[in-house]
Amino acid sequence: MAKKTILDFREMKKLGEKITYVVAYDAHTAARAEEAGIEMILIGDSVEMSIYGKKNTLSATMNKMITHAEAVRLGAPNTFIVGDMPFGSYEKSNRKAILNARRFYERASVDAVKLEGGIGMAKRIKAIVNAKMNVMGHIGLTPQTASEFKAQGRTAEDAMKIIEDALAVEKAGAFAVLVEAVPPEVTEIMTKTLEIPVLSIGAGPFCDGQLLLEIDLLGRGVVFKPKFVKVFAMQPLADITRQAFQKYVKEVKAGTFPDIEKHCYKMIDGELEKLTNRLHKTTKHH
Ligand code: KIV
Repeated sequence: MAKKTILDFREMKKLGEKITYVVAYDAHTAARAEEAGIEMILIGDSVEMSIYGKKNTLSATMNKMITHAEAVRLGAPNTFIVGDMPFGSYEKSNRKAILNARRFYERASVDAVKLEGGIGMAKRIKAIVNAKMNVMGHIGLTPQTASEFKAQGRTAEDAMKIIEDALAVEKAGAFAVLVEAVPPEVTEIMTKTLEIPVLSIGAGPFCDGQLLLEIDLLGRGVVFKPKFVKVFAMQPLADITRQAFQKYVKEVKAGTFPDIEKHCYKMIDGELEKLTNRLHKTTKHH
């Protein structure tokens, strides 16, 4: 399948064809996503929690994000990939935002970057877009600045603010906006109002596309399960992984793994005799 472009995503919105989007962090998972026909992959700063066991995403660095983005790019060469700008990499100045977005592009060949914030970050979005790079906005629940993980936009006043954020992100030149943890009634209005694709993570079925973290949809993590997560694996990978480790422990302890026929290399014919002779001579000498 050919790599999708931002024009394709706009066309999909017009046609009502949903965009499929996952968060992945490594080459193998990204490769499986590409094989399955997923159209967009985010290398999320959630890597801190999903892979490195941290309590939040704040410790993600540009270097770490680029390392994971490089791996995802190698695994999914024909998928549109988005690099997540980590906390501290874009907020302070346009110059810093452009510099770090460019690092993502140059080192990991990303197709876009994502940053958190609406009206307050419109200037940064505009600056990166003016520097000829694609930006996805991220509004609603924004984990880098949220004090707790909870739904946003549940009152008219709060919903209005989020819609205004979406409009500001579009006006600043973003090619799409991701909305996190917002009721579907609000994102339905947004999806109908905006020309750019509105993508959902926990923001309901009316959006132009859906995003889930691979760790959540595969049931690979066991710590935190937001309301919007559905495990799509036939059995959660956390269970499969634990069971496989338990079997491994059992077989190693019992001496049934490795099997001499199935899992061992063979010496070349005649070489064992030579080795035995050599050892025999050496021991005789001593
Ligand atoms: O880092 C991430 O995975 C994200 C999603 C939660 C949207 O930003």
